Amino acid sequence: MSSYRTAYNIHDLREIAMSRLPKGVFEFVDRGTEDEVSMRHNIAALQSIRFRPRTLVDVSGRSQSVELFGKPQKMPIAIAPTGSAGLTWYEGEIALARAAAAAGIPFTLATGSMTAMERVASEAGGTLWFQLYMWPDRSLSHKLVERARLAGFEGLVVTVDSPVPPAREYNLHNGFTLPFSITRRNATDMLTHPRWLLTVLSRYLLTTGMPRYQNYPSEMKQKITALPMGRSMALNDSLTWDDLRELRKRWPHRLMAKGVLTAEDAKLAADCGADAVIVSNHGGRVVDGTRAPIEILPEVVDAVGKRVEVIVDSGFRRGSDIVKAMALGAGAVLIGRATLYGIASGGEAGAARAINLLREEIDRTLALLGCTNFATLDRSCLADSKEESQTQWPKASNRYAGL
Ligand SMILES: Cc1cc2nc3c(=O)[nH]c(=O)nc-3n(C[C@H](O)[C@H](O)[C@H](O)COP(=O)(O)O)c2cc1C
Repeated sequence: MSSYRTAYNIHDLREIAMSRLPKGVFEFVDRGTEDEVSMRHNIAALQSIRFRPRTLVDVSGRSQSVELFGKPQKMPIAIAPTGSAGLTWYEGEIALARAAAAAGIPFTLATGSMTAMERVASEAGGTLWFQLYMWPDRSLSHKLVERARLAGFEGLVVTVDSPVPPAREYNLHNGFTLPFSITRRNATDMLTHPRWLLTVLSRYLLTTGMPRYQNYPSEMKQKITALPMGRSMALNDSLTWDDLRELRKRWPHRLMAKGVLTAEDAKLAADCGADAVIVSNHGGRVVDGTRAPIEILPEVVDAVGKRVEVIVDSGFRRGSDIVKAMALGAGAVLIGRATLYGIASGGEAGAARAINLLREEIDRTLALLGCTNFATLDRSCLADSKEESQTQWPKASNRYAGL
């Protein structure tokens, strides 16, 4: 299988991405942190939830549209921020943002993108959110936020789960660093992937030079030395809720706190004025050994679901996974690796393929459950007794019921 056109699910797209990307880039995208316990558990937890399908319901006229922040969108997903997405495809961030705009879903640009935010905004359109990693020098981060506002971004996603760089030893083994530099270790890897070398790396070298973080202000760019990918952010271990409050004062649009894993922190984020919490363990890329966000989602929905939007991510590979999160009260699901496999397989068209596969799977799952839309889906659609499922869900009503 070599083309995204013959991919029939996200796993197929992953296989294509694996064959096209140098091992160092593929592992940077695909893998987690330390022993990858969190990463594997994210998927296992989603798979362990069981449905209770109802039959002989008229499910013609289905719709998977939702309202997020009061704005209608065609599907219950948004694209998660993924730093260095531009290494999987030349200007991959623009490709991904265009696919999102065409699908009518929001796209989140990472602080650590290979394409400058102004270019993504002018060339992609659609609903754009900007993800912020705070730097120790707050004033530089505040300037970045102002740039995002001026560029027309509608949402600010503040990542709160990474006070220190994660441990990702495979990047060291693979010799993958940013700013990207060619070493003896990764040269063979790249030479054995000539298509990537010609269509991705060479194009950067002929245009903007070695791929680097294009959103970083020159003060920061100068300070960055080549470090293993995932460690090259000067992350901030003194960040507190005061910083979120300060961002609330500065940012006039939607503010989201990403990386919340407890109801206590969800309440604090809401108290600071956040409009949404994103229940996420970063796809198993930061703390190894957490509960899966899908397991934490119900308690966060119950704690703050009436005050703020509750969004979830980590491990979503099937439309049925997304339907499970929606049944548990999520407002939307962020998609990370699934669409990255898509751009790695075929740029904008590959990302569109990934989104389309998820759309079809969501539609099929809704029909098979006896639901026409998300208003008719709630926790009663999931098995809730010990015999039926491994998890017991607290009862709560669906946010779309009655819409
Ligand atoms: C290659 C890659 C880079 C990422 N970079 C960022 C980032 O810069 N900021 C951030 O908040 N999350 C980042 N994430 C985490 C995603 O936003 C998201 O939480 C995660 O991918 C969701 O899990 P999934 O990949 O299983 O869908 C990254 C994830 C991947 C796979």
